[in-house]
Formats: sequence, structure tokens, C-alpha cells
Amino acid sequence: AAEIAAQRARIAQLLTERRAVLVAHYYTDPELQSLAEETGGLVADSLEMARFGTETDAEMLVVCGVRFMGETAKILNPEKRVLMPDLRATCSLDEGCPAEALTAFCDAHPEHTVVVYANTSAAVKARADWVVTSSIALPVVEHLAAQGQKILWAPDKHLGRYVQRVTGAEMLLWNGACVVHEEFKSFALERMRALHPEAAVLVHPEAPDAIVAQADVVGSTTQLIRAVTELPNRAFIVATDAGIFWKMRQLAPEKQLLPAPTAGEGATCESCAHCPWMAMNALQNLEQVLISGDQEIQIDAAIRDRAVLSIQRMLDFAR
Ligand code: 13P
Ligand code: SF4
Repeated sequence: AAEIAAQRARIAQLLTERRAVLVAHYYTDPELQSLAEETGGLVADSLEMARFGTETDAEMLVVCGVRFMGETAKILNPEKRVLMPDLRATCSLDEGCPAEALTAFCDAHPEHTVVVYANTSAAVKARADWVVTSSIALPVVEHLAAQGQKILWAPDKHLGRYVQRVTGAEMLLWNGACVVHEEFKSFALERMRALHPEAAVLVHPEAPDAIVAQADVVGSTTQLIRAVTELPNRAFIVATDAGIFWKMRQLAPEKQLLPAPTAGEGATCESCAHCPWMAMNALQNLEQVLISGDQEIQIDAAIRDRAVLSIQRMLDFAR
């Protein structure tokens, strides 16, 4: 514990020296989330992470999360240096949607408005008309559908189907998925709900239909955290990455939080639903990157100039 405290103090000192701030996602190690908060940075969902980078006057953003979050920060803040503890931290949605294939799909359907999830590469965002995160996907698609626009959606098929169901929009869907949220088991969740009838079920929309169908609240990480503080329930079953429990416990220590089952008969292993790429962020490599200055995000200028338009459209809409 003393060693960890010393390391946290060294990182805080390095952040001051480099005029840097930490921007951490709710799925990262609680050590990083708490350090971000204590040092004037931010712990948030992916939309708020994107917005924060544009509002801080820090010269360097250190993004603890996965690569698309660092890329979005760099696209929006080309004058700032953007570092990540490990640039290899990817996302199965991003990996499953290569820019060339997405471009061919879009070219085959030129009459569709291209809406891509934030969990994509800069090159994919450059081909899109709109970028959305899970917290804003519904209102953006509702807005486009109200104008009679047909939508080409990529890459998350589960989130896409959910948005399609709620908005009634005409949507063509890419066939991508989050490997973490696909692990939730619907039968085991039914059994768990029967054992805890008082618990509200909170589900991130990257989860499959059979899980979303059992939800009391479907929403982004920030929206699920808000539900824990605002709903009167004493207990919650939570179907998203286990990293989120740190903030939920901090804000609502009196509530009972049960991880939704990911395997077998009602198993409740907290470490089961945890993104392997989010887990690549740790105090060790964070300190290392602040010393070395490597693991810096670079974006091709032509890609940046186009990707910034679809991201900025989202931020302007969200305002
Ligand atoms: P949020 O935008 O809800 O934070 O989700 C990001 C993500 O990668 C979820 O898997
Ligand atoms: Fe991607 Fe899923 Fe990990 Fe989020 S939890 S970063 S969607 S693989």
C-alpha cells in the first residue's frame, strides 16, 4: 500500500511538471479512476471524455482507456499531445470494422446517412457523417429519422438493433460486437432476477437483445451510474464491465450491487465481465509513459480533417 501511495504521488508530480491531465474511462482500474479525480482530471463515459479534452487548458492529455478514446482526443485537440499508457489497447468493435470494408459498404449504399459508434478508428470516423456514443445514439438517430433519412450503422449490431427498435428508424447494420458484453448469459440473468426481485437491472446497450430485454434501465456508463443514485431500489443487477462498480460504490455505498452473470448457472464473478484492453492501463505503464513521453497518438492530417467533422457534429448536437 505504501508503494502504491508513493507511485501515485510520483505520477501526480509528473502530471504537474508536464502540464498534463488524466482522462480515464469508468472501465479502467480504480487506482486510475481515483487518481484522475484527485489530480484535477476526469473519470467519465466516452462522450464526456471527448468533451473534457476540448475544455481543459492542459497541454497534454493522458487518456486511460482504449485507443479510439485517445484518437478522438487527438482529433479534437491537434495542438495538444495525447498519450496513452499502452497504444495497443484496442476494442473488438474497432478491430471488427476495418476502414476499407466499411468504405465499400457505404459506397454500396450511397443514399444512406453513415452513423458510426465512437468505438471505431479515425479512418472509419473520417468516412462517417455522424459519430455517436451510447449516451447520445438514440436522440441523434431519432433526429435523423424524423428528417426521413435512412441510416447505415456501424459497427455494433446489438446497439444498432436496440436503437432501431426504440426509434423505428430504417437502418442497415454492420455485424460487429463487443466481446465483453456478449458474455452475459440470459438464462442465468433470469434466475438471478428471480432470486433478487427487488433489484433493478441496469444494462449497457452493447449487450445482446436477450439481456437488454430484461433491463429496467439501458444506457451509457454515466447513465447507469446515475440510475444507481437516482432510483429508489436498494439493489441493482449490473450488466456491464466490472470497472464501473468503483464509481457506483463511491456514489451509493449503501446500495447492493450484483454483477450480472457471465457464465454458467448464476455465477457472479466480478472479474468475469472485464475488458482485456481497458485492463492494459495500470499505474506502472502510466508512470512510464509520463517519464518517456512515448505511446503518443498521431493521426494522419487528411483523416483528421474529415474525422473532426463527424465528431464535432455529435458534440454540437449534445450541447
Ligand atoms: P460509454 O460511452 O457508455 O462509456 O461506453 C464506452 C465503451 O466502450 C463501452 O464498452
Ligand atoms: Fe470495446 Fe467492449 Fe472493451 Fe468497450 S468493453 S472497449 S466496447 S471491447
